[in-house]
Amino acid sequence: MTTATAQAFPNIAFIKYWGNRSDRLRLPANGSISMNLAGLYTQTCVSFEPGLAADALVLNHVPSLGRSLHRVISFLNVVRRMAGKKDFARVTSENNFPTGAGIASSAAAYAALAVAASHALGLDLSECELSRLARLGSGSAARSVPGGFVEWQKGEADADSYAYSIATPEHWALVDLIAIVANEHKPVGSSEGHRLAGTSPLQAARVAGAEQRLEIGRNAILARDFAALAEVAELDSNLMHAVMMTSSPPLFYWQPASLALMKIVPQWRKGGLPVFYTLDAGPNVHLICEASSAEILKSHLDEIPGVISTIQAGPGGPAHLVPDCTLI
Ligand code: PMV
Repeated sequence: MTTATAQAFPNIAFIKYWGNRSDRLRLPANGSISMNLAGLYTQTCVSFEPGLAADALVLNHVPSLGRSLHRVISFLNVVRRMAGKKDFARVTSENNFPTGAGIASSAAAYAALAVAASHALGLDLSECELSRLARLGSGSAARSVPGGFVEWQKGEADADSYAYSIATPEHWALVDLIAIVANEHKPVGSSEGHRLAGTSPLQAARVAGAEQRLEIGRNAILARDFAALAEVAELDSNLMHAVMMTSSPPLFYWQPASLALMKIVPQWRKGGLPVFYTLDAGPNVHLICEASSAEILKSHLDEIPGVISTIQAGPGGPAHLVPDCTLI
């Protein structure tokens, strides 16, 4: 039996990934930039066992079948092919953050699975190879492999579509205060959403401007220029949601409280509070601020009707192995 356990953090994108050039290889339509979220993590133990008749998956203590299992099996098949091995695996995975809280867990899940499964099969992959591998499970997982502030270059093909750190977690004490406005699972997941992106007449314009937004976002992070990052990240989030809403069929992820926050956050910023919003494929609003403003922002959020709770996270490190199979 060969076993390994790994932890990985989810991430929040400031410049978003939406739409693929190849769905099979998850080659993105455009590059993206994100920050890993410390404290929230997925821990995954993978054991390849000669006696097993099939791969088995337990997610948050519940045996998993159907689509999630099939996605994991396809991923394990890739790792087995790379290692030239045939054994089936038992995969046990847990999140330390509430499921259904609208935090994209597939990024952390596939980053942790890539690290644990490859190590268990004796592959000694570089960070870049791990990021490419994680990308095959979930695009944004490519960005949860390296630490801190991360850019995923879209690349020309499988070999050069991977993510790398542009700054360490210590570079900038930003905080993501996630305003939970709905607890239920999203009706249309991101894999389906990526497939619909090309049906929007706005996707081409969004993609055409992505290089420029990436440059502005990257420079703003490197210079710790909050105002510049705020402006480009809000624009980029709005562009992605414009594509979602004009896809066929259209995807509407917001709740009334999402829009209320999108309207008030720029006003708070004008009033001197350094904060901006960004939303993924769901209704919850990620409010990014500097750590020194997190307390006051939290008290503002407590006043907004429809905000059920908040979750706070700072910049997180890379996906990494942990000593044994003790789960959370
Ligand atoms: O990795 P996926 O397929 O779950 O896609 C994630 C897409 C967004 O979260 C909406 C944007 C992003 O860049 O993370």
